[in-house]
Amino acid sequence: MVALFFLFLVTLLTSSTSSISDTNSFIFGGCSRLKYSPGSAYETSVNSVLTSLVDSASFTTYNKFTGTAASETVYGLFQCRGDLNNDQCSSCVARAVSQLGTLCFATYGGALQLEGCFVKYDNVSFFGVEDKTEVIKKCGPSIGLTSDAFTRRDGVLAYLQSSDGNNKNFMTNSVGDFRGVAQCTGDLSTSKCQDCVSEAIQRLKSECGASTWGDMYLAKCYVRYSEGGDHSRGSNDDENHNDDEIEKTLAILIGLIAGVALIIVFLSFLNKVCDKQRGGK
Ligand SMILES: *[C@@H]1O[C@H](CO)[C@@H](O)[C@H](O)[C@H]1NC(C)=O
Repeated sequence: MVALFFLFLVTLLTSSTSSISDTNSFIFGGCSRLKYSPGSAYETSVNSVLTSLVDSASFTTYNKFTGTAASETVYGLFQCRGDLNNDQCSSCVARAVSQLGTLCFATYGGALQLEGCFVKYDNVSFFGVEDKTEVIKKCGPSIGLTSDAFTRRDGVLAYLQSSDGNNKNFMTNSVGDFRGVAQCTGDLSTSKCQDCVSEAIQRLKSECGASTWGDMYLAKCYVRYSEGGDHSRGSNDDENHNDDEIEKTLAILIGLIAGVALIIVFLSFLNKVCDKQRGGK
């Protein structure tokens, strides 16, 4: 019985570790400094907005909500990556909202970006407001970009920046083995989205230089490019990688603890049997 439980536990952990899809990887999170008091009207507003976001994510890739309880207003929105289906989007937003609840416990505002979705709430309206603040940047190894590869990379980025690619708030493009993606939050107008994407591309070019891949996350849009199909990242300062490692280590650790517990149970059982036999003599 105990052995069965142990096996079940390990299976559960390994399967949950291996099913951590790309879309759930943590990219960044941030919270406002001021805190509200738990149980306040503001908390009611926050909860109603976050619940609406999660509900809505099962049928659309973007939505925004305003919640007001006792004149305490909260604004919130989510944006899924444009290529996710409803299931992927809703599971991503649910995860982001739950992580926000932990990371930004009782703070007036918070924002969290996972690989597949972005969620933000605040007491100041930010709907439709362009914000080109650089939030996070990651650059791959800056080795081995031939001038030919440079041309392809710049070709990918140029398309994302062009009005051709800018009819929606989600754009992808590839030239040869280079792939690029640009995404704005759905509250931005086409021109604001285009402006935000241009800024991100400019910074990618100047800050990631000749890197084989680069991610540039601004407050309302991001642009990423990579060479060779997958976004193969270096092993250093890679949060997603670390995240996965931590979860794997945790799974192994819990497995070990369960194993030790099992041995202890078994030994005490043996002990009892021996005691009984000794007592019988
Ligand atoms: C947001 O909340 C903070 C903290 O209570 C407050 O100082 C600020 O005035 C609020 N802003 C708005 C627009 O309500």
